[in-house]
Amino acid sequence: MSLIGQPLPRVDGPDKVTGRAHYAADFPADRMAHAAVVQSTIARGRITGFDLAEAEQVPGVLAILTHRNAPRLGKIPEIPPVDPVGTPEHPLQDDLVLHQNQHIAVVVAETLEQARWAASRVRVSYAPEPAVIDMQATLRHARPASKDEISAKPGNVGRGDADATLASAAVTVDSLSVMERENQNPIELHATTAQWDSDGERLTVWDKTQWVQSCAKHLGAAFNIPPERVHVIDPFIGGAFGSSLRVWPHTYIAAMAAKVVGRPVKLVLSRREYYGGTGARPWTQQRVRLGADRDGSLQAIRHEVTAENSRYEIYTENVLKATPILYRCRNVDLPYRVALRDVNSPNAMRGPGLATGVYALELAMDELAVALKMDPLALRLRNIPERDQMKDLPFSSISLEQCLTEAASRFGWDRRNHQPGSMRDGRLQLGWGMAVSNYPAEKVKATARARVTAKGEVHVATASSDMGPGTWTSVTQVAADTLDLAMEQVKLSIGDSALPMAPVHGGSMTISSIGPAVRDACEKLRGAVYGAAGVNTGDILEIARRIGRDFEAEGAFDPGDLEERFSMEGFGAVFAEVTVDPDTSEIRVRRITGAYGIGKVVNPLLARSQCIGGMMGGIGMALLEQTEIDRRSGRFVNGNLAEYLVPTMADTPALDVTFVPEEDRNVGGLGTKGLGEIALVGVAPAIANAVFHATGKRLRHLPMTPDRLA
Ligand code: MOS
Repeated sequence: MSLIGQPLPRVDGPDKVTGRAHYAADFPADRMAHAAVVQSTIARGRITGFDLAEAEQVPGVLAILTHRNAPRLGKIPEIPPVDPVGTPEHPLQDDLVLHQNQHIAVVVAETLEQARWAASRVRVSYAPEPAVIDMQATLRHARPASKDEISAKPGNVGRGDADATLASAAVTVDSLSVMERENQNPIELHATTAQWDSDGERLTVWDKTQWVQSCAKHLGAAFNIPPERVHVIDPFIGGAFGSSLRVWPHTYIAAMAAKVVGRPVKLVLSRREYYGGTGARPWTQQRVRLGADRDGSLQAIRHEVTAENSRYEIYTENVLKATPILYRCRNVDLPYRVALRDVNSPNAMRGPGLATGVYALELAMDELAVALKMDPLALRLRNIPERDQMKDLPFSSISLEQCLTEAASRFGWDRRNHQPGSMRDGRLQLGWGMAVSNYPAEKVKATARARVTAKGEVHVATASSDMGPGTWTSVTQVAADTLDLAMEQVKLSIGDSALPMAPVHGGSMTISSIGPAVRDACEKLRGAVYGAAGVNTGDILEIARRIGRDFEAEGAFDPGDLEERFSMEGFGAVFAEVTVDPDTSEIRVRRITGAYGIGKVVNPLLARSQCIGGMMGGIGMALLEQTEIDRRSGRFVNGNLAEYLVPTMADTPALDVTFVPEEDRNVGGLGTKGLGEIALVGVAPAIANAVFHATGKRLRHLPMTPDRLA
């Protein structure tokens, strides 16, 4: 029986719950020193001076680095698809303050407590300049994103004439919505432990990163050494949600500090330091205009996004990626605008772009259903696309209709009274809403290595990471399945830049990219063992033992021209039930049902876990999550885990997840489409549409806090 498709428990579970799993801040080193950053307290301006006298007196202080004495860094590169366009922060290189909570100094000391205390004693003087933080003020200067700034991936390509069609359409809606800035808030703090070899030519870094090999390239460039001399290690990640896709300033600072003191240095950002020290899902405003015939056939979509950005980099994302493909529609216009403010750069957060764009689109689709007096489900079914009209390609497979009907049936949608405000549970208003979900099935080149030793051990290696979706387990499944072994017989190594090339652990592309590379390596390994023994069947462990030597094979995956032949997309449907308290405006989510068509499901247990995690993220996006920035000072008002609200178990009801069977022979590799981001997409709009159905009040601002609903 194939191991692919089996609901196997996590192979890394025991290591994680017993503390054997080492995260970036857990790696021991001899003579470790500890670092603490000093962050700016203005949003824009120049540093005019540091008074270090008191900090230098703190016992145990080894060094204090500022832009005046820190080592000079080389140019930090832009590595696609992660890095934005512009000039990334080069920490401690000049006197410029670009945003609040920017790292402007670092203290290195014998202990963490000494470093933190001394950092708190560093006095900084500034020449502040006027900063624009307020989004309404920022929006007045919004401008179209340039071609360079819009991500290279296709996704913002319109067609036809949306404006003219909207002007003559039988039914139109015009929906202006806002989503606040959000932060990822992973449980593992951002941390780097950096250690230079005695000659100062080799750097080892235990870093919280979703892309060890890109991290090595960035550090190599910054410190003017070849990337092969930078060893980045990160076998376990305690959640990231995109927050560790790129290399943040603190990673360079830890390496600078280690160089200066000539000892290993550990730098952990505190919860509070993380809000300015990393990125965030950008604040966005979206205007969606839809035009349709009376029977609900979509004729035109104009979807415009304006997204916040910093002044030093432009980060754009796939907000408009789903809009041109999700529904059959001839006329589509997709303007992308950026609004620059004096904040730190945004970055990718789970379901980047699509979670934002599908929210606005699906809110507008719900409004269109109301305008047409049509069942919102029927409206979606009416407009299912036959092919990808943006790329003008057939889908490798599409199960949107099956997802919609399957989720609707599990949810009991046919019992819905479509009249808003018509359903009650006692004194509570009851609402049912739905939305679709979508995420591209990305896959890129990857490599892997498989080895069987003379002792009969199997080792499989690839540089990828696992931030929690279950890569440790799913990749072990692929290897064990290919080699006809038990899970326990395969030893996997990941999260190490010295291992075979793997892509960024993000964009839901991991199993679709490294999965087939591992399969290829294992098949070649088996071929090598059988070839040496002159057999074509048998247990490779036993044969290797008998022959008495190691065998090794390299495997690779290359998607080739797949993307030119097929549009590869995962689809889903999400249905939500909410109650609204008419007196307090408190919204509670009662239940969510999601159905997904994502190709092959390697491990249904972990796949379900991904989806319920995404649903919780969606509850947060809908009801709780917003990074509040003081519009005068630019400070993070709720910049810690006590005040930045995320859903707890008490906010989370029973979550129902199902996968529609999808055998996709066109999608290549293992037949997977990836599962991670799609689990978040569609959840917030389903909840928002349910709130409208409960109350008859259309709230177009996330999160839907009680004050916004009242
Ligand atoms: Mo995902 S936002 O690409 O980690």
